[in-house]
Amino acid sequence: MNPEMEGQHRRYSKLEEALEIKSLRRIISAYLNYSEAAEEDVRRYEKSFRKLPHEHKALLSHLPMKYQRLRRCISVNSFFIMNMLQAFNPPFDMSQDICIDEHENIDGLPDSHLCTQVSDCNEECSGYFKQLMPEDHGNCPVPTILRGLCGQTLSPNGNSEKQEISSGNSCTAIFRMDASNNSTELVEESKDAKVDSNPDSSLFDSAPNGNTSSLQRDWIEDALKLSVPLVDVDKVRCIIRNIVRDWAVEGQRERDQCYKPILEELNRLFPVRCKERPPSCLVPGAGLGRLALEISCLGFISQGNEFSYYMMICSSFILNQTAAANQWIIYPWIHSNCNSWSDDDQFRSVAFPDIHPASVGISEGFSMCGGDFVEVYNDVDQEASWDAVVTCFFLDTAHNIVEYMEVISKVLKDGGVWINLGPLLYHFADSYGPEEEMSIEISLEDVKKVALHYGFVLEMEKIIETTYTANPRSMMQNHYFAAFWTMKKKSKA
Ligand SMILES: C[S@@+](CC[C@H](N)C(=O)[O-])C[C@H]1O[C@@H](n2cnc3c(N)ncnc32)[C@H](O)[C@@H]1O
Repeated sequence: MNPEMEGQHRRYSKLEEALEIKSLRRIISAYLNYSEAAEEDVRRYEKSFRKLPHEHKALLSHLPMKYQRLRRCISVNSFFIMNMLQAFNPPFDMSQDICIDEHENIDGLPDSHLCTQVSDCNEECSGYFKQLMPEDHGNCPVPTILRGLCGQTLSPNGNSEKQEISSGNSCTAIFRMDASNNSTELVEESKDAKVDSNPDSSLFDSAPNGNTSSLQRDWIEDALKLSVPLVDVDKVRCIIRNIVRDWAVEGQRERDQCYKPILEELNRLFPVRCKERPPSCLVPGAGLGRLALEISCLGFISQGNEFSYYMMICSSFILNQTAAANQWIIYPWIHSNCNSWSDDDQFRSVAFPDIHPASVGISEGFSMCGGDFVEVYNDVDQEASWDAVVTCFFLDTAHNIVEYMEVISKVLKDGGVWINLGPLLYHFADSYGPEEEMSIEISLEDVKKVALHYGFVLEMEKIIETTYTANPRSMMQNHYFAAFWTMKKKSKA
């Protein structure tokens, strides 16, 4: 490489890293500010309640108690989030000052590893997870689950111990970490106001592993100070719902609707799965990783691909740091007062993960690979490398669905199969920002035409009725009539 190219390369990497840090700070900040944002909602409910005339208040006299109960549930959710963040080892020096020259021209710079959506609002990851990228590991992905993402182990380090976590507001919850069954139990709740107006104060001082020094990180303090847009807070709440879908007993019904037919199809198509030469399966848009894990348990070399840091931080924690099934508790349904049959429905706790990922019999070669699907897999090294590609609720996340299909076809071996399940609720269909985002929105009929062009032959097609991260006890249920198909890539010969 000539010196000019080298300089350009270095500048590019610096810029790329700066953008990664900026984006990661914003996501961590959203997680850290989860409880404050939830508390803000509770304050709003209380404000409305205070406006009620006296006699109406008397009719609803239980509501102040409900608000306190909400606060305690927020503390429990926060407890999980804080533990997850403690276990997260950022790949960069997050405390470094970053200076991004917004006008720097990154077009035409070597290679295309920069995430296509890098912008101020970027939540996606690109370079960070490159350590897991397939090219780094040949076609045999890393042998541990999500290797390299998290360094710290969270498992309790002794007998049952009490930990205190403050939501940073007016409620404190005491948890017991029980080493005998590795569970977390809420043992005391202080209803007294414990006002902690300083958001910087010791949220991280009470690590269950007792490791305080590593937790007092400047970048965490900085992230706490960042103001968080509501849309980011919403993403954290979505993750909580995704935890139910992928990792709780309460999500079993949805998993049976979506994942089970896919697993049965893989089982039918690959009846022989010998350990010596296992078939390989790629799962783009893997979310929190349950489907990729189930595919691994079937005896495939399974690789999930995911580009959201929100998802990757959480899936890494669940996959790598879980000590036992049902170790954690969350209250996923507290964020909406709408469509509730009863308050108790809203206050349902959910234990997770329903299984201990490390003990369920995953096959060698299970991995999660971070980055944008097209960027990572539209690579010569990836050509004709996979026996199967499984997309579940993923196709419609594309700016350009044709490009997704082109890459799926490219990475499949001749005779390889593409199993898809999902709707066509194009994610960018409603993005009317100042910078209009590209969004190709085509019908299923056209999707099939495009698939034909890329050498696919339709083998099986069904409609599957399903929900997606739905609260089963809500009066409102969105049902999809999802397209489910298997297509085979024609052999060239
Ligand atoms: C609707 S969710 C489905 C998740 C999971 N497959 C499931 O069924 O629960 C779509 C997922 O695709 C991820 N995603 C979207 N665009 C992506 C891209 N270009 N590359 C990799 N992942 C992407 C999102 O971050 C999200 O986790």
